Amino acid sequence: MTLLSQTTTTPCPVKIDEEGVPYLSIPNHPELRLTPYLETDDDDLIKLFNDPEIGKWSWRRPYPYTVEHMDFVTSALPQRQALVKLITETLPNPVPLTKFDSRYFPFGVLRHVPSGRLIGDMYVGPTSSFSHSTVEVEEGGTQFEDGEVWEMAYNVSSQWQGKGVGSAMIKTTLEYLKWQGVKKVNATAEVINAPSGGVLRKNGFKQVKIIQLVWPEEKGGMTKDCYSFEQLL
Ligand SMILES: CC(C)(COP(=O)(O)OP(=O)(O)OC[C@H]1O[C@@H](n2cnc3c(N)ncnc32)[C@H](O)[C@@H]1OP(=O)(O)O)[C@@H](O)C(=O)NCCC(=O)NCCS
Repeated sequence: MTLLSQTTTTPCPVKIDEEGVPYLSIPNHPELRLTPYLETDDDDLIKLFNDPEIGKWSWRRPYPYTVEHMDFVTSALPQRQALVKLITETLPNPVPLTKFDSRYFPFGVLRHVPSGRLIGDMYVGPTSSFSHSTVEVEEGGTQFEDGEVWEMAYNVSSQWQGKGVGSAMIKTTLEYLKWQGVKKVNATAEVINAPSGGVLRKNGFKQVKIIQLVWPEEKGGMTKDCYSFEQLL
């Protein structure tokens, strides 16, 4: 794996709460933060994934989502906790991108701070962990190093939708990725998912092509048109 020289002039967006836990703030929503996952979040995450307004858009994630499916999340908990520790120790400098070999980022929980409840999630990680390609070449010839291209996916619970939260959560995540040294971010949204396309466009993503994704057999196996979005940071 190539060792990247990380030169970032972006100010550090990571803050530390009164208990020493790092988080990202959400613009215009002081009551919300992007925070690390806690073991006590399991029930809220299952509830989020079973929200019909969220489940209907999920491609490979099971729907209905049950406690048996949580293995995918809980098995990564030790790695997540180690990464949170590393980030905290390295501040205000970013952790080298080569340390991010897993399909998650350490601030994946959108939390309502007064209640402590999980009300959404942000799923972002190197594209190489979403697919098998590790290096991308831009049309103009730009060669991206391993780890410099990341993929983004997100959900906001239906009670919180339409209040600017999704858009603000993406904005703060992009600031984090820029600080981290990520050069390009990809995202995919169904053509008919207007809110998802809306929050991406509002945050500077460009719609580059239409792709057809095949849904799993147990969800009908149908093919759906999706926009492929990208943004150079
Ligand atoms: C997609 C999602 C994260 C957006 O979050 P949100 O908090 O509801 O969105 P916001 O309130 O920030 O909306 C921001 C912009 O999105 C667009 N938008 C939102 N709802 C829209 C709708 N029904 N039709 C068209 N555009 C819409 C608007 O451009 C809006 O900008 P505005 O404030 O200038 O009107 C949220 O709706 C969600 O979780 N949906 C279900 C799960 C999902 O689709 N996940 C993504 C899978 S690819």
